[in-house]
Amino acid sequence: MNLTDHEKAMYDGEHGRAKARAMDLLVRYGEALGAERLVETNNVAGAFNASTPSVQAIAEKGMEHVYSELNLDSDEVVDVPHMVAHTCQLITGIDNDNWELQGVDKALVDMQRANEKYLGRRGVNMFATCTPYQVGNVPVKGEHCAWMESSAVIYCNSVLGARTNVEGKESTGAAALTGRIPYWGFHITENRRGTHLVELDIEVDDMMDWGLLGYYIGEVIGEEIPVLKGTGRQPDLIKLKHFGAAAASSGGVEMYHIPGITPEADSIEEAFGGRKVKGTFRYGAKERRETYEKLQSSTEKKVDFIMLGCPHNSIDQMALIAHMLENRKIHSDVQLWVHTPRAIKQVAERNGYIDVIRDAGGVVMSDTCPAISRRLPAGTKVIATDSAKQAHYLPAITGVQGWFGSVSDCVDAALTGQWNGRV
Ligand code: F3S
Repeated sequence: MNLTDHEKAMYDGEHGRAKARAMDLLVRYGEALGAERLVETNNVAGAFNASTPSVQAIAEKGMEHVYSELNLDSDEVVDVPHMVAHTCQLITGIDNDNWELQGVDKALVDMQRANEKYLGRRGVNMFATCTPYQVGNVPVKGEHCAWMESSAVIYCNSVLGARTNVEGKESTGAAALTGRIPYWGFHITENRRGTHLVELDIEVDDMMDWGLLGYYIGEVIGEEIPVLKGTGRQPDLIKLKHFGAAAASSGGVEMYHIPGITPEADSIEEAFGGRKVKGTFRYGAKERRETYEKLQSSTEKKVDFIMLGCPHNSIDQMALIAHMLENRKIHSDVQLWVHTPRAIKQVAERNGYIDVIRDAGGVVMSDTCPAISRRLPAGTKVIATDSAKQAHYLPAITGVQGWFGSVSDCVDAALTGQWNGRV
């Protein structure tokens, strides 16, 4: 690994033990990946928070133990200085307000809150969402980042044109303290070219359509880079957020191009950058139907939990849900949780959306989601969700049955207690 003089000084401990341990980690990690050097980063989105029972024993010794062990992979316990890179906390396991509803122990909530203050004073911004790009962390095209969370990474690379691999708790912990990350993978221009063409034979329009397309592409593409042709109408943040999250859950897609829409290619040719097209897929009505059916893991029409907001909802999605629930009541056998970043929740509160959702019997959750927290309302057997990602993970993680559909299908299920969705 070739290090600059400043990096060598950090490695040798001239800038303190925490940076020395961070550099040790980055060099080990980079060498394992075949990286020849590090690249400067000033944008880190990681998981620093202590919110799980397994962390409790470490946190009781002090927060510096948590950071040293879990964010620096270090046996040596180091004092944690202020972060040098702009850094934010991604989603956590606990909603700081609705923890009782989640069935979380008060001791764990106290631990999360104490850890947040410890980290916040050191420069980790407590966005507490999987969509940092919705609440103020919007890297510019070409910016080198160190982000975790697959749905955020694919948005960062593809829609924003910034550059990141899917990092981990340790590498983001080290990057935040040093402003460095190994230079490999999606940091390198040549690795960002398309590999496969996906030709669309049908119009992809609403959020559910984009979720289905993403899920299909993830399954057929795996970890390659799709280039989409013929998407029709201009997608927005909400649709691309759902598309990317789905593609990153059924497969390991970390980047895609939609020529003329995403920033790194104006044409199909530019998206491939002279590379040979490895394969072509066609997506039509048959593929859409098959993907829809694959996402239904329930045969039981009676639902008891509706999960909306994966990835975390935008303010427009909150407005739509509030509009659908205005002057209505959800079924007495059903629980409805709507997830949005805490910063957006504040806006939704001021706009009156939260009151409408609450009056209808729903709960607005922030900071977390059921797939991350692994907590559902007690007794949940059948869920309904508008997210292909949540429909993919929740049955596997928690053993529930699941329905996937549009927002209006899910709101209808919340109101009637029955799944009536159709493709
Ligand atoms: Fe975000 Fe949880 Fe979905 S982390 S993308 S709401 S599974």
